[in-house]
Amino acid sequence: MTAPAPPVTPRRPIVSGTDPRFVPTLYAHVGQGGSHTLEYYLRHDGYMGFKRAVAMGPDTVIDEIKKSGLRGRGGAGFATGLKWSFMPLKDGRQHIVLCNADESEPGTFKDRYLMSEDPHQLIEGMLIGGFAMRASLGYIYIRGEYVHAAERLWAAIHEARANGLLGKNILGSGFDFDLQVHRGAGAYICGEETALMNSLEGLRANPRLKPPFPAAAGLYGLPTTINNVETFCAATHIMNYGADWHAGMGTEKSRGMKLFQISGPVKRPGVYELPLGTPLRELVYDWAGGPTEGIKAIIPGGISCQLLKWSDQVLGTPMDYESLAAAGSSLGTAGVTLIPASASIVQTTWNAVRFYGHESCGKCTPCREGISGWMVKMYEKLGRGHGQPGDTQLILDMADNIGGRSFCALADACMGPVLSSIKLFREEYDAAERGELIGAGTRRWRDG
Ligand SMILES: Cc1cc2nc3c(=O)[nH]c(=O)nc-3n(C[C@H](O)[C@H](O)[C@H](O)COP(=O)(O)O)c2cc1C
Repeated sequence: MTAPAPPVTPRRPIVSGTDPRFVPTLYAHVGQGGSHTLEYYLRHDGYMGFKRAVAMGPDTVIDEIKKSGLRGRGGAGFATGLKWSFMPLKDGRQHIVLCNADESEPGTFKDRYLMSEDPHQLIEGMLIGGFAMRASLGYIYIRGEYVHAAERLWAAIHEARANGLLGKNILGSGFDFDLQVHRGAGAYICGEETALMNSLEGLRANPRLKPPFPAAAGLYGLPTTINNVETFCAATHIMNYGADWHAGMGTEKSRGMKLFQISGPVKRPGVYELPLGTPLRELVYDWAGGPTEGIKAIIPGGISCQLLKWSDQVLGTPMDYESLAAAGSSLGTAGVTLIPASASIVQTTWNAVRFYGHESCGKCTPCREGISGWMVKMYEKLGRGHGQPGDTQLILDMADNIGGRSFCALADACMGPVLSSIKLFREEYDAAERGELIGAGTRRWRDG
């Protein structure tokens, strides 16, 4: 089966450059009336990617995903094709694909629209993944607050079942696959892949020890692969337009298009689909319309990333995994947040620490006692203007005993804003030790 040509006319002005390859695919239909229905999806080449996958066979699908250079869009950027190839072959057990739709990282809000506006795109991506990894069952674990998106997903699953796109012998392929949607109850830790599996099994959402890795023993002890919503959606388009098309966009090591989110004081906050490697400046000014007030820092990929100081040099950073790491931060979920000059960095970081403290599952000591207990107390002291000499050093000592010493990555994530804010804005911490809060007073902060 030949691949249909990529759409050539952007339907929404959300894509950069004049290069015709850079057209919206993931977000092409978001905001178009009826885009969530099967009838609309089929009119726009819906389920063609799955048909191509079936024609290729499962091993070739995995090779194509590898060739495309797709990396997981959930934050860590792990190579998707490689991950899919970890699933055992002919082991006689049921295989499971999981979609991580927990989307609780502050500053991140891309998956929500994919699911509510274009749910069949995700279903097709999971069908492709399920086919390639010989799975017969898939679960979408969706953030509890995303009620509308969950309803749209259920409706789309019912439509797909009624039309032979889910269930037994799908489209005569001999492949059986079905999907379930599971709504979370509102906890950030449920986005950690093994905590998500525990939660899905009805247990407390504590992360699991690895190994065994999910491909060997995941949900209910069965071989499982988990991917982010955007990752599965990208697989749909790779099957539609080919691995070379995807590999031809972005940078050498960060390939393809990416959904960038931008929030904070900018004229047009929102989600923009751009090639990886697009300079930060282009997102902030050309697409989001520029800041509405003075900015002092930027978080490039969700609150778990290190802060960067607002500067010409930082604005020139290409937004891809390698360039942002070289700049001292990371791409994460590509949830860009601008921090206004009028905000106190100490109070902003306090807000982040309070979030992690609240969301910690409490399983391991560094996180439970270190973050939820001591770190939150120290920031509260500084943030309320009761700082004393030595407080910042104490925070640094605590960070030394938390980072890299916890059970899962939640604690490390918290150390991102803590350590980078101290490194880049030490003068604000020094002032806070004297009881002065630079930037505070012009903004009101929620009391903890
Ligand atoms: C505390 C914590 C929260 C996370 N939350 C999410 C989330 O909401 N969505 C997501 O896709 N990945 C999240 N992750 C990453 C997942 O553990 C996992 O790496 C990801 O779902 C893998 O999918 P990918 O390979 O497609 O990126 C989180 C990780 C941690 C440590």
